[in-house]
Amino acid sequence: GTKLIIDTDPGVDDAFALALATQSEDVDLLGVTTVFGNVPLSHTTANARRLLQLFGCEDVPVAAGASRPLVYDNAKPAGFVHGEDGLSGHAGTLPEAKRPLDERGAVRLLVDLLEAADEPVTIAPIGPLTNIALLLAAHPEVREKIGRIVIMGGGVTKGNSTTAAEFNIWSDPEAARRVLVDGDIPTVLVPLDITHQCSVDTGWLGKLAASGPLGAALEALTPTYVEHYTPILGFPGMVMHDAVAVAEAIRPGILHTESYPVDVECGFGPARGATLVDRRRLRSTDPQAVPGRTIDVALTTDVDAFREFVLGSL
Ligand code: BDR
Ligand code: CA
Repeated sequence: GTKLIIDTDPGVDDAFALALATQSEDVDLLGVTTVFGNVPLSHTTANARRLLQLFGCEDVPVAAGASRPLVYDNAKPAGFVHGEDGLSGHAGTLPEAKRPLDERGAVRLLVDLLEAADEPVTIAPIGPLTNIALLLAAHPEVREKIGRIVIMGGGVTKGNSTTAAEFNIWSDPEAARRVLVDGDIPTVLVPLDITHQCSVDTGWLGKLAASGPLGAALEALTPTYVEHYTPILGFPGMVMHDAVAVAEAIRPGILHTESYPVDVECGFGPARGATLVDRRRLRSTDPQAVPGRTIDVALTTDVDAFREFVLGSL
């Protein structure tokens, strides 16, 4: 099965992503690392631990990572999207985690898990990229153990935190640039453009709730999030951003990707945190071509099949 590590800031859609990874056969979830983001680090860490307990994964280590961005401490949490506790006010109803927090911290846990792995590991970062940038800067030798990085982040035609920028990238643009632009590990970017195509309505959430105790527990985490997304979508429902990336991490190819050079705007103008996906299709010898690597950007999928896959797995 796919060897997987998830770096996360739960987050309602992060909860769906963790559920998908833990409930899918053929996935070996080696560990979970947490980062600031949707809510402060203390909450994202507590939420990740309780969610893994809920999903019956007491054997999966959880370690806490960065509590702020790499350079400028100006990220803002998104309690208005996910609830002040990150889970629509329902975090306290989840079972308490029996497994203690891993004392090594996120970067050390990542290094130890990667060094111990006997086959390539997929990392799925579904929050700000701070932990991954720190890992690659401090331990470049572990790169060869990473098969793929599948990132929920960015937008080709839209943002959400600002008109230009998506939340995970906007929260730490300097970290995102290191991972997306300066890196050399095969990378898939799962931007807002595709996550919005895969949105689900409350009818789908009702089916999930009726499917069993786990589905019901997940659906119970969604009210604040659905309230936020309803005017955006134009119907009652939500966008499972992070679960779309994790689906690709565990089912390579479920999303259709195209390969493009990508840059991250790190200036302080209105486009800070934007992902610039260069779709001009220039030849590398053209004077206006951007030197550097290309990454795979997920742009389309069979949406109905995708929703069925998630429902079936959960
Ligand atoms: C991303 O930002 C967060 O609010 C979600 O958890 C997701 O990772 C979507 O822009
Ligand atoms: Ca997230």
